[in-house]
Amino acid sequence: MVRATEVSLAHVLPLTAGVSDAGHLTLGGCDAVTLAGEFGTPLYVFDEETLRGQCRAFQREFQSRYNNSVVAYAAKAYLGRALAGIIAQEGMSLDVVSGGELAVAASVGFPPERIFFHGNNKSEQELREALDYGVSRIVVDNFHELQLLNGVAQGKGARQKVLFRLSPGIDPHTHAKTTTGTLENKFGIPLPTGQAEAAVRQALDMPGLELVGLHVHLGSPVFELEPYGQAVDAVLEFASRMRKQYEFEMTEFSPGGGFAVAYTPEQQAPPPAIYAETVTATLREALWRYELPAPKLIVEPGRAIVARAAVALYTVGSSKEVPGVMRFVSIDGGMADNIRPALYESRYAALVANRVNDERRETVTVAGKYCESGDVLMTDAELPPLEAGDILAMPAAGAYALAMASNYNLSLRPPVVLVKDGEAKLMRRRETYEDLTRADVWPLE
Ligand SMILES: Cc1ncc(COP(=O)(O)O)c(C=O)c1O
Repeated sequence: MVRATEVSLAHVLPLTAGVSDAGHLTLGGCDAVTLAGEFGTPLYVFDEETLRGQCRAFQREFQSRYNNSVVAYAAKAYLGRALAGIIAQEGMSLDVVSGGELAVAASVGFPPERIFFHGNNKSEQELREALDYGVSRIVVDNFHELQLLNGVAQGKGARQKVLFRLSPGIDPHTHAKTTTGTLENKFGIPLPTGQAEAAVRQALDMPGLELVGLHVHLGSPVFELEPYGQAVDAVLEFASRMRKQYEFEMTEFSPGGGFAVAYTPEQQAPPPAIYAETVTATLREALWRYELPAPKLIVEPGRAIVARAAVALYTVGSSKEVPGVMRFVSIDGGMADNIRPALYESRYAALVANRVNDERRETVTVAGKYCESGDVLMTDAELPPLEAGDILAMPAAGAYALAMASNYNLSLRPPVVLVKDGEAKLMRRRETYEDLTRADVWPLE
């Protein structure tokens, strides 16, 4: 059960969240109800202080413990031009997984020497675009890509620096659909099977590639610390063997991202400092044990950078009472702007932005407006009695909601604003009906 009081939600709301004299939720000094009126709902509100604070916390906690650390924001969690600009301003690197993410980054002049290109099925076209832009590293996921990239790089007379994404066979105990480090997973070159060794052998003979490092990403969100330690050990043991057998020097190492955040009051996620301590301490220990020189450390937080920074605002509309069964309340968004509850059974908390101090509670199911029975954002939520016109605020909405948003039912993807010191700036406008027909062709030629 989620009890949505202002106090219990403090650690899932943005840092600047408050309550106005009128009992309204405030974010970055802006009244959430006023924002909803001005920009319409659904609306995603990003708090600049929380966003930049997370960028700085990850860099500080890793770099203070291990000087040669790079924090690359995993753009898949959410990317728009404004966010790419902020990430660049914060001095972070960027992990992209598609030509589209690269294009958005390039549109704000994101420094190519700070870009890592991931993905399990990069097309030849995407690889060309990445090399044309001069991305710093390609993280090679499989043997097919190894050949493809070698060909593309040779065709350009280039020698591309690459890392290998390894599949270490480690279970991080997260949702089956967000686990990536086990052998039954599509990502990465399997390590325990001997395939990773074969890939190293091949790469060392490829004139278009320079293998500089090894990478693993276990899954997301990883609440436990132990899997990171296991991953560090597995990769370093492998690096040490490859060094002895093939004189391969691992000058860069990445344990990926996956750092968890709290979505509901009862969840607790380790802060960046604890993840940083675990990764850097186990890395140092393994370097000593396997007698390896210290590599550059690259971490790739996505969710942990943006999730808490954003609150989604919805307007309550229809409701349906099934006596003795349940009460449904429908809001004006749902699975088209946030598919996580439908896809992964993700849980969220919520509060009523126009009546934050209302202590009354009833159990409701918060449904979306889309034509799927599975379009439910919250089941058995404990909220004040909701009425049409109420503004429902859902915290921790910054990661993997907008990034996976669709036009299902030909809905319009919502606007995004950035709030700070009482000012709200539009990061992305609401889509229009014209946007919906722009790519369609009629009459057919
Ligand atoms: C290679 C890689 N790095 C980083 C991430 C980011 O994960 P998270 O947003 O949980 O930090 C992912 C997520 O899928 C990933 O695949």
